[in-house]
Amino acid sequence: MQVVYHDVIVVGAGLAGLRAAVEIAGKHDVAVLSKLHPLRSHSGAAQGGISAALGNAEKDSPEWHAYDTIKGSDYLADQYAVQVMCNDAPRAIIELEHLGVPFSRFDDGRIAQRLFGGHTKNFGEAPIRRTCYAADRTGHVCLNTLYEQSLKRRVSFYAEYQVLDLCMAEGAVNGVVALELKTGQLMLFHARAVIFATGGYGKAWKTTSNAFANTGDGLGIALNNGIPLQDMEFVQFHPTGLYQLGILITEAARGEGGVLRNGQGERFMERYAPSIKDLAPRDIVSRSIYEEISQGRGAGPMKDHVLLDLTGLSKGKTTEKLPEIESFAKIYLGVDPAEAPIPVQPTCHYAMGGIPTDVNGRVSADVNGREIPGFWAAGEVACVSVHGANRLGSNSLLDLIVFGRRAGKDINRFLDRVCLTPLPLDTASANRIRERIEEFKGKKSGETVSVVRTDLQKVMMDRVSVFRSEQGLSDAVEEIAALQKRAEAVRVADQSRNFNTELLEAIELQHMVNYSKAVAVSALKRREARGAHSRDDYPLRDDANWLKHSLCFLEEDGAINHTKKAVDLSLASSRAEFVPKERKY
Ligand code: FUM
Repeated sequence: MQVVYHDVIVVGAGLAGLRAAVEIAGKHDVAVLSKLHPLRSHSGAAQGGISAALGNAEKDSPEWHAYDTIKGSDYLADQYAVQVMCNDAPRAIIELEHLGVPFSRFDDGRIAQRLFGGHTKNFGEAPIRRTCYAADRTGHVCLNTLYEQSLKRRVSFYAEYQVLDLCMAEGAVNGVVALELKTGQLMLFHARAVIFATGGYGKAWKTTSNAFANTGDGLGIALNNGIPLQDMEFVQFHPTGLYQLGILITEAARGEGGVLRNGQGERFMERYAPSIKDLAPRDIVSRSIYEEISQGRGAGPMKDHVLLDLTGLSKGKTTEKLPEIESFAKIYLGVDPAEAPIPVQPTCHYAMGGIPTDVNGRVSADVNGREIPGFWAAGEVACVSVHGANRLGSNSLLDLIVFGRRAGKDINRFLDRVCLTPLPLDTASANRIRERIEEFKGKKSGETVSVVRTDLQKVMMDRVSVFRSEQGLSDAVEEIAALQKRAEAVRVADQSRNFNTELLEAIELQHMVNYSKAVAVSALKRREARGAHSRDDYPLRDDANWLKHSLCFLEEDGAINHTKKAVDLSLASSRAEFVPKERKY
């Protein structure tokens, strides 16, 4: 088997991975592996913006930003990590500007900032313009800029390489096993440090804003290697997915003045969040939409969606500030947002949970934060945790940039001071993978991947969605266990080596059932309602028992072992604003 050495392997070419690579390049030899061309990474789909208390539109402060983030998280975010992110945000934006990101501007030339849900001034007084943007293509321009910067710094790219497993030696991570999609060749990438920046996992749900590639591969690989996942029950549904398609219609549409209406034309968010209305955090808006629909006030013949009304925006504003979503509405639904409201419904959008890390991206192996030498994670695959039970819009791009950079810096320190030579490479994981591939391809009968995947997506959509219950979740746990057996038995009919996407999807399906189990078990165990986790049978937040992170391990027998981990409330000891209390908007 071919072995390639780089000092650092970055898995994933979205913003977190590229930001880490840019930090490492020039100091150490760094390679980025991605199952897609880097510019197809899902970060490029981020629309509305990136938050930072720059104060370009009005007075702002990182402390207000931290307060909003912690309150938005329903107090589950780790407070020191939030402070690190919000304090670093203004510097991070200026740095992006200097790297070449073409931000939209105010007339005086400064970076423009817009309203986004849950961002307020003076500890919740009123909405604030904190989100920097490039029309509604913010992720796209950031991704292109960081890719250019990576090329300039001579980062090595292995595009269309699917990472299948970690290599470990003496308890440390020192490489990955990957499949070159073009040739079907298995390869070993030997390294002194590995960082996972593999993104999110929305593809386990039927309706999602996530790309096809978002199959949670990093999470599945982590579980298989005894590494825990944190807060997996917290899955965010974005309130405005394009009706029946789930494609993202940015929250910036509401930030720019759009309003949500039910089938009766009523601006219903006035009832659910009287103070900030349509700019309430996403968990609240998504629940309110479903509430309207369940009360028979949905729109359309089926009364199964609501309407995003941009017709009140001044002439040309949609084309200038929201060109992407204007064209999505026209192309997919035949609706011109200047003339008629856009039909929308909540869509699975973002994973708050993931691989637990510290603020430098170092992966934690247990409740006490024991490190796994040589292994980092950043971006949506990681759980730092700055989003807790619910992420505020435009805090995601910030998380990627801030913690991607910090992980890069930490890796540089590790290579300079701790791990001076690579540990010997163990080929056991590569042999295991080879056997699994042969097993898949050797089957003469069995279901196809797509049948099992569709059933999984239905279970997750019906039972592990915005509203959850004990019965629905325990059914889901059983059903996912059955789906796991079916996923293991799928047949890969395509015997070719070159671009065998059927094989790739069979492997992705294993990851999908694996992490879905962790999501369902954590949701079942958490008997309270907090942020994006809403239980019909436990409708209240229960700080006495559940102001805790969830940690899940995969046992040898395939069961999920769930345990609790303390939340960092360090800011609460010095300021009353940060003490957990009921969320009101
Ligand atoms: O609505 C949006 O533009 C999405 C932004 C985000 O998820 O942060």
